Formats: sequence, structure tokens, C-alpha cells
Amino acid sequence: MSNSPVITIDGPSGSGKGTIAQLLAKDLGWHYLDSGAIYRVLAQAAIKHNVGFADEQKLAEIAHKLDLVFSLEDEGLVVILEGEDISTIIRSEQAGNAASKVASLPLVRAALLDRQRAFRQSPGLITDGRDMGTVVFPDANYKVFLTASAQIRAERRYKQLKEKGIESNLPDLVAEISERDIRDSQRKVAPLRPADDALQLDSSSMGIDAVFKYIRTLCADI
Ligand code: DC
Repeated sequence: MSNSPVITIDGPSGSGKGTIAQLLAKDLGWHYLDSGAIYRVLAQAAIKHNVGFADEQKLAEIAHKLDLVFSLEDEGLVVILEGEDISTIIRSEQAGNAASKVASLPLVRAALLDRQRAFRQSPGLITDGRDMGTVVFPDANYKVFLTASAQIRAERRYKQLKEKGIESNLPDLVAEISERDIRDSQRKVAPLRPADDALQLDSSSMGIDAVFKYIRTLCADI
């Protein structure tokens, strides 16, 4: 396995980890792994091939064979499943919840480990997810665990959706985010939790720029 440097950014949904990870990857000229997108794509592939979210064996088979291409463009991460651009579809709340369900299955997680580790290539990798620092890259050079209150994360999401012209309901978003947090942090395998050696940062009262500067300074020797 490559020993190129890795920085892991873990945290719950809406903590800003994806935005920060992409900024860091661009700034450093490193590769980028959005591990949540893999689970989102898997859930879409399961729907496409009529496989139920409780069929662990079949889901793991799909995970092994997943025909998936990522590319980080100026407009964000472009995601191609079996030749089809599903970058927008996978970003809905529904797709996030579906991802959280398939991600709770141990055989599915095991099937995706090598695929995630293969992103570790020269000159380095920035990765975001839930278990990047605890399970997938336990030897990462730097580990950050980014949090924010469920209320703040739901407000950020509400604003993002509004900017895209999508109407949503704030109390429903708070409830959905809290439900996903519970599922992700209480599952038996690779639950959402900070690695023992992770820097924990609460971004509730920080803007993206401040969080980026803080983490970039932390990794200044890279
Ligand atoms: O980061 P995200 O919101 O795109 O992730 C979607 C879901 O995928 C999340 O609710 C839980 C799951 N996930 C995971 O279990 N492990 C990861 N490393 C990343 C995501």
C-alpha cells in the first residue's frame, strides 16, 4: 500500500467537512476521496438493480463491482455510475439517508475498504467521511473531527437548498439530521466517532474560511 501522506476530515453530515476537504485538496494539489459519495452511489446502484437495502450479501457484491468514476472539477465532485452522471441525484436528503442505511452493513463496509485505500496516491490524499481516521486510514498524518450542532447544520443545509431553489422545512431537516447522526454513530461497525488522536473542531460559530485557515495552519509542515 502507498505511504503517501493523508489528512482525514471526519464528522457528521453538514459539518462542512466536504467543503473543507475539497478546499484543502485544491490548495495542496492532492487527491480527494469523498467516502460518503461512495455509499451514496452504492445506494443508487442498489435502487437501479432492484436490490433491497436489507440484502447485505447482494449489496456487498454490488459494492465489489461498483463501476464508479469520480473527478473533482471547479463546480465540485462529478460522479459517474455505469457511465451516467449522478452527481446531482446523490446529493438529496433521501440519497443521504439511503447511504446511511447501506453503510450500516458490515459486509458492505468491508467490500469498500480496498477501493477507498486505493485513493492514497502521490503526492497525497485528503479524505472526508465518518471512519477515515479510525478505520480506513488509521495511520493518517493529520486527523480532524469537525462538528457543529444539529440545529446549525440543518440551518446551513436549509440555506444551501434555498439557494438551489429547493423549498424545505427547517424542523424536518433538524429531525432528519439527528436521525442520521444516531444511525451513523450507533452502528456496530466503524461508527461515527473521533479517532483518539484527532483534533476536534466545533465549527458552529466559525465560517468556512476560518475553519480552512485553522486546519491549513495545523498542517503547515505539509
Ligand atoms: O458524508 P455523507 O453525508 O455524504 O455520507 C452519507 C452517508 O454515508 C452517511 O450518513 C453515513 C455514510 N458514511 C459512512 O458510513 N462512512 C463514511 N466514511 C462516509 C459516509
